[in-house]
Amino acid sequence: MNAQEIRKSYLEFFEKRGHKVIPRAPLVPDNDPTTLFTGSGMQPLIPYLLGESHPLGNRLTDSQTCLRAQDIEEVGDNRHTTFFEMLGNWSLGDYFKQDQLPWFFEFLTDVVGVDPSKLYVTCFIGDSKNDIPKDTESAKIWAELFKKAGVEAKEAEIGSEVDGSKRGTKPGERIFFYDASKNWWCRSGKIDDMPAGEPGGPDSEVFYEFDFVEHNPVHGEFCHPNCDCGRFVEIGNSVFMEYVKTAEGFKKLPKANVDFGGGLERIAMAAIDNPDAFKVSVIWPIIAELEKISGKPYESHTNSMRVIADHLRAATFLAVDGVKPSNKEQGYVMRRLLRRAIRFAFELGIEQNFLQDLVPVIAELYHNDFPEVAKQKDLIVEVLVREEKAFRQTLRKGLKEFEKGTRPFTIGVSTIGGPDTIGGSVPETLTGERVFTLYDTYGFPVELSTEEAFKRGIPLSDNWRAEFDAKMEEQRKRSQTAAKGTFKGGLGGHTLQHKKYHTATHLMYQALRDVLGDHVVQRGSNITEERLRFDFSHPEKVTPEQIKAVEDIVNEQIAKDLQVSWAEYPTEEATGKLGALGQFGDRYGEMVKVYSMKDPNADPNERPFSFEICGGPHVDHTMQLFEDGKRFKILKEEASSSGVRRIKAVLQ
Ligand code: ALA
Repeated sequence: MNAQEIRKSYLEFFEKRGHKVIPRAPLVPDNDPTTLFTGSGMQPLIPYLLGESHPLGNRLTDSQTCLRAQDIEEVGDNRHTTFFEMLGNWSLGDYFKQDQLPWFFEFLTDVVGVDPSKLYVTCFIGDSKNDIPKDTESAKIWAELFKKAGVEAKEAEIGSEVDGSKRGTKPGERIFFYDASKNWWCRSGKIDDMPAGEPGGPDSEVFYEFDFVEHNPVHGEFCHPNCDCGRFVEIGNSVFMEYVKTAEGFKKLPKANVDFGGGLERIAMAAIDNPDAFKVSVIWPIIAELEKISGKPYESHTNSMRVIADHLRAATFLAVDGVKPSNKEQGYVMRRLLRRAIRFAFELGIEQNFLQDLVPVIAELYHNDFPEVAKQKDLIVEVLVREEKAFRQTLRKGLKEFEKGTRPFTIGVSTIGGPDTIGGSVPETLTGERVFTLYDTYGFPVELSTEEAFKRGIPLSDNWRAEFDAKMEEQRKRSQTAAKGTFKGGLGGHTLQHKKYHTATHLMYQALRDVLGDHVVQRGSNITEERLRFDFSHPEKVTPEQIKAVEDIVNEQIAKDLQVSWAEYPTEEATGKLGALGQFGDRYGEMVKVYSMKDPNADPNERPFSFEICGGPHVDHTMQLFEDGKRFKILKEEASSSGVRRIKAVLQ
């Protein structure tokens, strides 16, 4: 079966078992400010996993397009991609382990035809700290399934990943227990990082073994299912989502859910027993086209072709879902993907625009299942090619400049008419100042400078990053005179009373994040002379204890008489490296004004308590909020819309 056939059979398989097929959600989540992209099939279903009823019932299935931008640097080996499809099936408080595991096993072995002796499974070993038991039930179900298939399946306890590489696997072992670092699933990844209100649970993963792939000891002495060497590849994950994190620890959700996700491309790799993800039928035609355009074979240009194919699939779907290349958020990631793809195309000798030839190939791959790609083909080409043209120009100029200023170091070769490099000449280094000039004057991306240097064997100076940052800071100061406000609406006037509530709003925003978690993002604000009103993302009611904790933090900070000041930063730096808070979905210009509220007695290097993008105005120091003996108090906390809470608070 090829990938398209696997997708179709999977949806049919679960439809036959009472599931409704739901359409994929866009790559940019509709109503979830906690993340830039849809990175798993369950994300659009969070409210239903938490207990809301779904209009189509309690058995759902789909194939969800996903983007994991954090993997961008890994692309180039045989299995990492930023874009992929996740086949999913969900039980919202309906069936559980006893159905889920046999169904997936049946789908893999009977429908796709995967050899069961190549499959290995993992289960949760338990977590005594959080009072979550070992998942012996899943192990038992797996043992029976393998027995019926005539495959030996002994259990083995591995625990953590580190132990795994010390222990390895023993003959006959097939069911492996790992701890929460491997067999617990929640959106934040780690059990200890889960914010209150977040659902999660133990999971059971299925791995396919490419038994002809040699273990690579870089990843540890011995191989085991969770080893990263590429011999074992995870092809499906059944999450038994029955817990929710609360301020008092883990509680059972009202209903126990199943959240299954399986990488379509990876199942397709198992189906053809090929460890190269780029050979599957939803990617390979892109590479074949690249071979045609460049006249070069995949075998000798593997890395570049993989990067281009992956990044263009991702950029195409981003365009379908309405993203345009820009300098912020999703648009920034899209720009980065496109620019990397174009940069790697240069290496293949493709120096003319080529995106208009590849988009139709991608559209064709999905014409049956995601017809929106073909329908929007012309628009996608327009968006992508515009970026391509602009970047090619930047690149030409930047590369020329790069070459002017940095000569490669060649050992043992005397350059005609130049100095002999044998015996002690020092290779030229790439300094932070030079990286800055290339970036600032020629728009040459920082990561391209470092990549170019690496490829040419030019060392980077030790402190290049610090030097680069210092230059950025200087530039920021230069542009500070041009203060441009970005704060839109919300503030009813500029009286002292408005300013006080505005300052209190910043303090409360940070306090809410401290108490509830970093998923809290501003969704709206309205300030009058009488009160502040603040809307923010949070999945459940804020408890009276949490309200009290927020009030206490705000009052404590006011009492420190924090100094209020502002400075301007390039938007990318403010929202990126500096981590300034903002309002979800707000559109900022090139530069933004950022307000800091900081303890005047604290270490100057310490982060301010509040650091937020805002146009002002604010009071100068926070004790002004306590004038007339007033204190900060939250009067009301209520739902505003799905996943959004509203607080009204006063100084009284
Ligand atoms: N949500 C689970 C995952 O992404 C299925 O692995």
